[in-house]
Amino acid sequence: MRVRAFAKINRSLRVLGTRADGYHELRTIFQSIALHDTLTVRAIRGPFRLTCDDPACPVDDRNLIAGAAARMWRAAGRRGAPRDVAVHLRKRIPMQAGLGGGSSDAAAALRAFATRWRVGAGPVDAAAAALGADVPYFLAGGAALGLERGDLLFPLADPPRAWVVLALPDFGVSTRDAFGWFDQRVGLRSAPRVRPSHEMVNDLEAPVIARHPEIGRIISALRRSGASEAAMSGTGSAVFGLFSSRQAAVRAANRLASASRRTLVTRTLSRKTYQTLAATKPIG
Ligand code: C5P
Repeated sequence: MRVRAFAKINRSLRVLGTRADGYHELRTIFQSIALHDTLTVRAIRGPFRLTCDDPACPVDDRNLIAGAAARMWRAAGRRGAPRDVAVHLRKRIPMQAGLGGGSSDAAAALRAFATRWRVGAGPVDAAAAALGADVPYFLAGGAALGLERGDLLFPLADPPRAWVVLALPDFGVSTRDAFGWFDQRVGLRSAPRVRPSHEMVNDLEAPVIARHPEIGRIISALRRSGASEAAMSGTGSAVFGLFSSRQAAVRAANRLASASRRTLVTRTLSRKTYQTLAATKPIG
């Protein structure tokens, strides 16, 4: 079977404080976009195997797809390590970009293995939460408000469809580093900090831009190019700009592309479209 794993952007990401479990308390607005990885799942004989067309992508236990296989195998009541299934990952979502690629791959793998090994929704939800804070979002997609670690989810009405320019610097940002830089900047390890605001803001932007000024330059350039919103996505390094017309988006993407910066144009996905396109499909 084949299953698509769509990327996300964070239209807003407020960091409200730190938590006893080492995570940060968030209030974020997730939005699915059409850019996606594709997982092809085939029956084989022998131990579980993961391959990827991108040599930079780990295919061992660091890849959340392997964790998803182990958890679904156990949830199906089977013993030992997962076997008799091979996954090939076609990687299109840039890594260390704040676009949720690894988490979306994990959620897509959970959907595929749950279908293959007949696992119910309860264990799938539990495995998603255990694999990572962003993974539960990718089981539902669309526009959603994420609270707590970003995993307490409330669906939002789909905003008007928009064209999305993604600008991808030639460096990545690790999720852990971005949150660490945030903590250093606010000099806060445990006391919650609440700054009520309804604006679209990414609180991780300033600490990440302090290390990578290029991100600030891209945000300004996207605004100058007419983006209605421009911000860093999640923990970066990707920056997105929203446009109402495809033509304006393509023009901005062409203007922003440089030797050290790739750009691409995609679009937002409604929850319904996400759920249709992200469903597992037999290979036909
Ligand atoms: O859950 P996940 O493994 O994706 O998170 C990676 C890291 O990002 C965590 O170990 C933590 O350092 C940071 N994080 C955080 N608060 C969140 C989500 C992630 O501090 N809400």
